[in-house]
Amino acid sequence: MQPIGVFDSGVGGLSVLQSLRAELPREDIVYLADSAHAPYGERAEAFVVQRALAVTGRLRTEHRIKALVVACNTATAAAIHALRAAYPGLPIVGVEPALKPATRTSRTRRIGVMATRRTLESTKFQILLDSLACEADFVLQPCDGLAHAVETDDEAQTIALCQQHTGAMGRFGSAPGEIDTVVLGCTHYPFARTHLQRMLGPQVQLIDTGEAVARQTRVLLEDKGKLAPEGAEPGVVTLLATGDAGRLRDAAARWLTEPCQPAAPAGAAQSPAPLPCSLQ
Ligand code: DGL
Repeated sequence: MQPIGVFDSGVGGLSVLQSLRAELPREDIVYLADSAHAPYGERAEAFVVQRALAVTGRLRTEHRIKALVVACNTATAAAIHALRAAYPGLPIVGVEPALKPATRTSRTRRIGVMATRRTLESTKFQILLDSLACEADFVLQPCDGLAHAVETDDEAQTIALCQQHTGAMGRFGSAPGEIDTVVLGCTHYPFARTHLQRMLGPQVQLIDTGEAVARQTRVLLEDKGKLAPEGAEPGVVTLLATGDAGRLRDAAARWLTEPCQPAAPAGAAQSPAPLPCSLQ
């Protein structure tokens, strides 16, 4: 069975992979973390486009993927058009900050958007923002350094940057003029959710896109007749990294609650903690 390819600059896309596993448990998935080139969010657009094309080329030629999920807001904003042009026959799903869902839940009509600088400066994001400008006030916060802190599992720095960036956004709460909804517009940020929720208070809603992307992937595969058959065995997840594979494995062991098969590559030494996915 051909797998679905999923990529991000690093571990952030695991937050999307989690939702894909829940929605499509019979699909094989190859997840590629481009960690040798992370973070993408403070790089030039041309660099991100070039990396997205290179990573997709590898997933296509080495793994014969039947569909691609760009589990990275930054790469989607910079490169989704280039990817669709380069691979016209390949179903491609991207992620974008969940501004529209946020307008449906916010009561104060004041919505915070945390994302990378590259995402917020992109034309694609500007078009999205303009289309919703009459619906709410959006407070945009480029969260420099935060994806890197999550990527490197630096908890002290993650907390400090969450404090710094949310502190710059104004007041949070449910009173008029306060931000009551925050869009996590980078797939790394859901891994800082606990810290953010504690800082902002329980009345503030944090919104990410994993489940919507997973549902959209199902619809697209169904539409193309490419869904794994009903009675198929549970799918296998393979994790690949262009950089530090150990970091990806550790992050997967920590964040993925859905078990994947097989436990470890054949012939690998027994690891102390069971791996949730095969790692190559
Ligand atoms: N996780 C990515 C995103 O959703 C990119 C983070 C980065 O590499 O800066 O934007």
